[in-house]
Amino acid sequence: MSDQLSALESEVAAKAAAVQTEADLESLRNEFLARKGGRLSQVMASLGRLPKEERAEFGRRANESKERIEAAFGQAQQRILNAGLQAELAQRYDVTFPGIPARLGRQHVLRRTLNDVVEFFHRRGFAVVMGPEVETEFFNFEAMNIPADHPARDAMDTFYLAGGTLLRTHTSPMQMRTLLAYPPPVAVLVPGRTFRRDALDARHAFNFHQFEGLQVDRGITFGHLKGFVTDLCRHLYGAQRRTRFRPSYFQFTEPSAEVDVSCAVCDGSGCRTCGGAGWLEMGGSGMVHPNVLRTAGHDPEMYSGWAFGLGIERIAMVRHGIDDIRAFTESDPGFLEQFA
Ligand code: DAH
Repeated sequence: MSDQLSALESEVAAKAAAVQTEADLESLRNEFLARKGGRLSQVMASLGRLPKEERAEFGRRANESKERIEAAFGQAQQRILNAGLQAELAQRYDVTFPGIPARLGRQHVLRRTLNDVVEFFHRRGFAVVMGPEVETEFFNFEAMNIPADHPARDAMDTFYLAGGTLLRTHTSPMQMRTLLAYPPPVAVLVPGRTFRRDALDARHAFNFHQFEGLQVDRGITFGHLKGFVTDLCRHLYGAQRRTRFRPSYFQFTEPSAEVDVSCAVCDGSGCRTCGGAGWLEMGGSGMVHPNVLRTAGHDPEMYSGWAFGLGIERIAMVRHGIDDIRAFTESDPGFLEQFA
């Protein structure tokens, strides 16, 4: 009888491995496992004819067989199910079809430029501070040594809001806010949005970005300014570019200098890219005016400092050869996606 069971198991194993459809599997199940007339039941029926002492052992053996047979059918069922799924997938999806590229967002080129600047200052121990875009007339002008009747205000016309406030024309007011809040030594970087009442063209925008560097301590000299700004320009444009300090005038610095960088195309001899100048203007700089230190409550005999303000759009334009400032705000994917 045990042989009969073994033979049954082998037969099931072979048939279950070959069966292809659920319907065939179902009839196999019936053939072998049906309570009435199933082939296992038929073998079991002979139980009664066995001597008593052999019955228990045979019963155990029969149960074992039943489990093996069920396991074989279970496996077959899983195999048929998987094959069905695969076939369905193959019909619905062509796995060789090229994928649809996901449109990933990316950082705006201005943000990238700014992050680069921030990293440079961070490594040199500067604190990054941000100030209000809506400023008071006091901080934007008076505190920066530009009284109400000063002609310098004409070059920095802006949008005036209610209650004596305005959209700040530069990040310089944060010089005063910082110096009022913290006693020297201070070293800060002030990035941010700035505004001017300028007509929009390829080189002017009414809304742009600047960053201001400021260091005030005992014994700070113009040499510190030159060294720092030259280092920054090398970082931004590459070591082969030269930096030039051109005497200039700002109300809140004395002496003052315009910072120029040698043109990448002609290296200073003059070409069409730089309009024949050989140099590109990057921004203003100078030694913090004693009046600014005094207004902030610090003794200009004891402390001195340097400051500079550069335009972020300007830097990105020079670095990437962008010739129209409007490109930054037009949200043209063709433009934005160039900066990976
Ligand atoms: N705030 C000036 C501007 O927007 C730029 C500037 C010049 C900033 C000289 C400075 C500086 O900190 O020292 O035109």
